[in-house]
Amino acid sequence: MSPLRQTERFPARCLFLRIEPATTRVGSVHVGTSLSVVAGSNRDGHPAIESRKSRIAEGLATGLVAASHDRVMRHRFPGLADGWARFDGPAGTQMVDAAIDAIAGYLRTGDVANGGGRFTASQATGTLAASARASVGRLLGADPGGVVFGANMTTLVFALTRAIGRTLGAGDEIVGTRLDHDANITPWRIATQEAGAAMRLAPFDPATGRLDPAAVIDCIGPRTRWVAITGASNVLGTIPDLAPVIAAAHTQDANVLVDAVHLVPHRPIDVARLDCDAIVTSAYKWYGPHAGVLWLSERLRDELSPYKVRPAPDSSPSCWETGTPAYEAIAGVGAAADFLLETGVDRIAAHEREIFAGLLEGLLGLDHVRVLGPATSEARAPTVSFTVRGRHPDEVVDALAAARVAGWSGSHYAVEAVEALGLAASGGTVRAGLSCYSDAEDVARLLAVVSDLR
Ligand SMILES: Cc1ncc(COP(=O)(O)O)c(C=O)c1O
Repeated sequence: MSPLRQTERFPARCLFLRIEPATTRVGSVHVGTSLSVVAGSNRDGHPAIESRKSRIAEGLATGLVAASHDRVMRHRFPGLADGWARFDGPAGTQMVDAAIDAIAGYLRTGDVANGGGRFTASQATGTLAASARASVGRLLGADPGGVVFGANMTTLVFALTRAIGRTLGAGDEIVGTRLDHDANITPWRIATQEAGAAMRLAPFDPATGRLDPAAVIDCIGPRTRWVAITGASNVLGTIPDLAPVIAAAHTQDANVLVDAVHLVPHRPIDVARLDCDAIVTSAYKWYGPHAGVLWLSERLRDELSPYKVRPAPDSSPSCWETGTPAYEAIAGVGAAADFLLETGVDRIAAHEREIFAGLLEGLLGLDHVRVLGPATSEARAPTVSFTVRGRHPDEVVDALAAARVAGWSGSHYAVEAVEALGLAASGGTVRAGLSCYSDAEDVARLLAVVSDLR
């Protein structure tokens, strides 16, 4: 039976939610011509219940309206055919058809070859990589000459921090944040330890999930060489205000690396306007294959020397791409970037905002659920972490999986953040993240499972 036709108990103790064919019922919110969301309770009339009913109904109805417009996007994702509701986008999205086709298309031709050779297939491979670099450059608002492809973001950050480590000395400082994924903390920590330098981590507010730019700026001083900061938290969704931090770093002649892994799928990015010195992202978080991207400013390309073997090119970006690149993955990265450019990340963000309203309101409306981080959709990616009273996060995710709903539990590798939230010893959080293909039906399925976990 379609989840849209089920009567959802929400929570069964005092509140229910029903999504049903539209009627003229008073109190229901109509969605298009065929569906309505009806919220009711066994304590109707109680002011708190009434207000919660209308918030939940409105949130889900808004999402359903958006879904009726954007559901068409789903046919671009063959992986959705198995019927699972996917909330695992922050860990990795489904791949868009164009990326799958680009990978398969490249592999099927005789053009598969190593780059840099003196025959047609090798040159075609070089052209393919250049075209993918151009697409990623357009996506990031950055010059393609600084676009480096790699296995994933973590590997690229280790390559970068190893090169930077060579330039660090005793007394130098690196500033990071506790909101960051560990891939933007530990590589820096190792580089500072090896160089006798220091690492400072700016705190965020565990109550709101917000990272105050002032907290980062407070850590920046004359010995700061780099600031490593998240563009969007992969655990709480928070999108920090980067501009004042970048400006403060630059007044001290420090460089800034932005971890945009969780930002690129959800917000348009313009590196030139952002004025950061380096940025990293991973194509498998934005509908492409498992591959990472690093962009470096022209100045850094001249200043830094990556670890490389002698015959490899000395010039950027190739000198950063150790060994033979995964050209088939690069074909897919270019196609995924083109997909985002053609669709418009702002349009994706608008769709996700609509659907996310229903998810956030729904979770906030459940008494046995504690929503972590921001309680609003402002300045956040469509990602939410929560805990369920009396349940280990793994148990919640297992219950979701039993209903063919994919989510994640644990630290999500944001170990500092989960520790700051006080959840390191209790299994971390349950995380649900939306993607461009998410819709209100997915949200209703997740809420129904979580609602029943009392
Ligand atoms: C915000 C953020 N940064 C970094 C990473 C690490 O990315 P990768 O798996 O490409 O190394 C992730 C992965 O989940 C992430 O979400």
